[in-house]
Amino acid sequence: MTQDELKTLVGQAALQYVVPGEIVGVGTGSTVNKFIAALATMKDRIPGAVSSSVASTRLLESLGIRVFEATEVDELAVYIDGADEIDGQGYMIKGGGAALTREKIVAAQSRRFVCIADESKLVQQLGRFPVPVEVIPMAARRIARQFAALGGTATLRQKDGQPLVTDNGQHILDVAGLAIADPLGFESEVNQWPGVVTVGVFAHQKAAVCLLGTASGVRTLS
Ligand code: A5P
Repeated sequence: MTQDELKTLVGQAALQYVVPGEIVGVGTGSTVNKFIAALATMKDRIPGAVSSSVASTRLLESLGIRVFEATEVDELAVYIDGADEIDGQGYMIKGGGAALTREKIVAAQSRRFVCIADESKLVQQLGRFPVPVEVIPMAARRIARQFAALGGTATLRQKDGQPLVTDNGQHILDVAGLAIADPLGFESEVNQWPGVVTVGVFAHQKAAVCLLGTASGVRTLS
């Protein structure tokens, strides 16, 4: 099976976690796009979705799924999103699509995080994928030096020859070379640094369930 087919498989499998009658939290990325396509088949059974990005909102609305503001909803039953890396405990690196801040906000608003990913995303230890960190631009250089002190190399993410600007008007540092043995401690520490908006380690908002697309079908980790 191709990687694209594995994404389709887990995108469809995630439908079993959508609670009829409840608004669903929706992440961002190519795997979530497969989930959104599947969700359209049951759009008459849910009020709609809370979205984690402008891109997902556009796709949801184009398929006739109503999008609510996060502020219109108290709590969501489930949040469904992809990951750049996930370990056996459900800790993840996210933000390859630059949507990490809104992803973490919607995940925090949800009772259950269901991660959907192809098997290439499963790792023993987080850190091979450069950790995305959304930062206030004026703090970017200092934050890069703080990562260097931890052994990481931070690069300002570019788009069309300019620093990428997130949906929140901020920049992204991608930090390579970190071996993250303690995801909870790492997330807590980096969150304290002035100018950090969101670190792309999801440990406090970890996945409760991961649907992993493999050549032999969907493997469920929980
Ligand atoms: C978006 O900011 C990310 O957190 C995505 O969830 C992550 O990059 C996975 O994306 P793909 O499903 O495209 O691999």
